Amino acid sequence: MPIVSFDAKLRDRMLGLYRKLLGHPFVYDQVRPRVVGGIDMGPLYRGLDGEAARSVLDVGCGTGDALNHLSGYERYLGIDTDPIAIAAARARHGAKPNVRFEERLLEERDIDELAPTGVVLAGVLHHLDNDAGEAVLRLAAKSPRLVRIVTSDIVFLPGMVFNNVLAMMDRGRYCRHPDAYAALARRAGLEVERGELMRSSPDNERVQYYVMSLRPRRPA
Ligand SMILES: C[S@@+](CC[C@H](N)C(=O)[O-])C[C@H]1O[C@@H](n2cnc3c(N)ncnc32)[C@H](O)[C@@H]1O
Repeated sequence: MPIVSFDAKLRDRMLGLYRKLLGHPFVYDQVRPRVVGGIDMGPLYRGLDGEAARSVLDVGCGTGDALNHLSGYERYLGIDTDPIAIAAARARHGAKPNVRFEERLLEERDIDELAPTGVVLAGVLHHLDNDAGEAVLRLAAKSPRLVRIVTSDIVFLPGMVFNNVLAMMDRGRYCRHPDAYAALARRAGLEVERGELMRSSPDNERVQYYVMSLRPRRPA
């Protein structure tokens, strides 16, 4: 019995260490894509084209990967609760015009001040439980100019062992099945314009993400 509990403790400590390492900007940006077999988030950001890309709110911006893909925006605000990620984002992209990063939770004043046309939640919903996920989506949906919200998340998929093991070991504790992500968006009052699986990169199908394109629900 004591051996079993020691093993469980050791496993939890190892998992904790792994998750901590995964949060380091170098590991997140350089090592993780190699382990996964390539990560190309281009298709996600192409969902934020035209008018949606004018005024961009990036919730859970991490190290600012969105700005490797987006261009033509008039204003960009990246928000994240992780001070290390925000410091890395500022070092990379902070000098760009009309770009701002804030280390905190999303607040109503952000929506009032920015009135985003496009909102990005890349890899964020699986960090949030249902109440927190719904709250952040509802807040984003309050923007009077909102055209679209795009989301991407790790996802549990039947029979995809490698994908599911990585998802279980992820720092985010709320990985879901595709339907559960879509249901969350609908509960927040949004319409799921598109919800589909996306390979982590064009030539790797071992790891997939669930990508949604959401818009304000139109009156019937
Ligand atoms: C998987 S990372 C994705 C980072 C970035 N969007 C990207 O695609 O590279 C998730 C990020 O969400 C942040 N995060 C988690 N919960 C958050 C919350 N409630 N508000 C803001 N950021 C949050 C984490 O600190 C982390 O940087």
